[in-house]
Amino acid sequence: MARMILTDRPPLKIGPYSLANPFVLAPMAGVTDAPFRRLCRHFGAGMTTSEMTTADTSLWQTAKSRHRLDLDLTSEPVTVQIAGSEPGQLAEAAVACVERGAQIIDINMGCPAKKVCSKLAGSALLKDEQLVERILTAVVAAVDVPVTLKIRTGWDPENRNGVAVARIAEDSGIQALAIHGRTRACRYRGHAEYETIARIKNEISIPVIANGDITTPEKSLEVLRLTCADGLMVGRAAQGRPWIFRELVQSVTKNESVSPLEKIELRDTMLAHLNDMHRFYGELTGVRMARKHLTWYCKSLLNADDYRYQVVRVNSASEQVRLTKEYFDRDDGGISLAA
Ligand SMILES: Cc1cc2nc3c(=O)[nH]c(=O)nc-3n(C[C@H](O)[C@H](O)[C@H](O)COP(=O)(O)O)c2cc1C
Repeated sequence: MARMILTDRPPLKIGPYSLANPFVLAPMAGVTDAPFRRLCRHFGAGMTTSEMTTADTSLWQTAKSRHRLDLDLTSEPVTVQIAGSEPGQLAEAAVACVERGAQIIDINMGCPAKKVCSKLAGSALLKDEQLVERILTAVVAAVDVPVTLKIRTGWDPENRNGVAVARIAEDSGIQALAIHGRTRACRYRGHAEYETIARIKNEISIPVIANGDITTPEKSLEVLRLTCADGLMVGRAAQGRPWIFRELVQSVTKNESVSPLEKIELRDTMLAHLNDMHRFYGELTGVRMARKHLTWYCKSLLNADDYRYQVVRVNSASEQVRLTKEYFDRDDGGISLAA
């Protein structure tokens, strides 16, 4: 494999922050909460970003927003993503996030989720380049910390205006740009394309982070080759597999062989993740939130059908922990080759 590709590159730098490596966790609403971000950092993610938080600060008292804004200030840079469509409101939200400890503000123009788009936010904004400019200028002027932007390649395949938006971003003072290689209309269908990301990288001089369908060290090398991006953003491939960051760092940046995950390490990872979620959300919500993560982990487990069936149905933290310990005590339990 063509390793060493990253060793001669300068580190990915966003404002004053030099990241330890170029592999960053994608923001994913409902997934990348503080416990999951901590875990991805533990396995070496160079940066993590909070789930998107609405720019409407009057909604910040809901339990959902309170958890999204419960920032882990121990791993720098603390990056918070905001979503909205009103420049003044986004600017105010950015200031409020910085007051809570955010060191980088990321603006979401990449998410096709209905709830965001019904209010013309997320990737729906790409259709209105003037509004994009007003939003970016307002947020950059409002805070002293770096502001970054996450976009898709355009509105739809006939209107891939990612290059135009990228130029607006650079001119507005955005300090790094993450691009998901699909249009808004593509949602998550088909394959990500990297040609538009390569064109954007060629056109602007701020750091570019490529995103979309990066699942293995081999794929990350291919995307780097195709785009010459400064960083790579990994989303769904980290679900139930936070150790992907260790694999990427070892294989791609350190030219080492990947240390296989041991059964005991997977057990401890899952138990630590469960305990962190139970503590962070409280038992009721923590148990509920843990279910999807447990289902994802099960994809890496051997003979886990019974365990999965039971562990997503129990209602107490102690039962989730007990069933998980019991699974790993079994002789036929362990890590599948696919892990
Ligand atoms: C469940 C889920 C939630 C997401 N939430 C957000 C979000 O809050 N903000 C955002 O910019 N993108 C969001 N995305 C998009 C991801 O950040 C990423 O761009 C996309 O999943 C493509 O990367 P991947 O192929 O590595 O998963 C979400 C994606 C998923 C699957």
